[in-house]
Amino acid sequence: MASDAPDIHELDPELFQERVHSFQFWFDAVQGYLAGREYGHQPAAAEEDLSESERDRLVTVLCNYCVGETAALDGASGLIAIAPDRLTKIFLSTQVVDEGRHLEVLRHRLLDLGVEQPEVEIERRASPRLMDFKRRLSELVAERDWAASIFAQNVILEALEFSTFQMHARYADAITREVLLGIIKDERRHIGFGENELGRRLKSHPTLRDRLARVRAELDPLVLGTVEDAMNELQVPRADRDALGRSYVAAVERLGVRL
Ligand SMILES: [Fe+2]
Ligand SMILES: [Fe+2]
Repeated sequence: MASDAPDIHELDPELFQERVHSFQFWFDAVQGYLAGREYGHQPAAAEEDLSESERDRLVTVLCNYCVGETAALDGASGLIAIAPDRLTKIFLSTQVVDEGRHLEVLRHRLLDLGVEQPEVEIERRASPRLMDFKRRLSELVAERDWAASIFAQNVILEALEFSTFQMHARYADAITREVLLGIIKDERRHIGFGENELGRRLKSHPTLRDRLARVRAELDPLVLGTVEDAMNELQVPRADRDALGRSYVAAVERLGVRL
């Protein structure tokens, strides 16, 4: 952002909303961490040596990330049509660009790791629970249920991805780590949008919290099962898995949606 730009937090609430939902804000944010990168990482970065089983487990995890990103890409693009106003439509269009990029860089990482047909591997290695989640999200969007869809996508799915990618980045090879950290920066914006959008609705619609709790009760087992699958593949120690579970729950419960 230009150094003479006003601090965004000093804007009045309406201008703040206008600003953070804009393509201009998106561009100012992403150019800092995407300029000069190729497929999400420094072009000169060297591959670390991975054993065959490490590589295979990483491929499985990345395939599942591709499923999650495709769910978000399909969801965000479908939600533009039912978004209630211009600002939410424009924000979602920036999210569509982000999710398309995430899918592209993760798929490219699979190519780097020697996967010749990523689509075939993604289908073969996809977690059934994550596929169930993806199907359920697309049903909510098709039902034009704005609040439940935003909750499932921009809170639950984003919290799942944010927490998992952050944990994985701690254990990942350098290239995968850089790709994941760039994605995390985008996911943080997407969660912020979901919390802001639903936070305002929860204040004016007191029964919405119970309805979202029912959505959460349905989707939580799928999400937590997916996390468990990923952590098994990455062989993450038990204590860190518990921390990841807590990070997911804390993100979802910031809106007060409890089981
Ligand atoms: Fe994403
Ligand atoms: Fe996202």
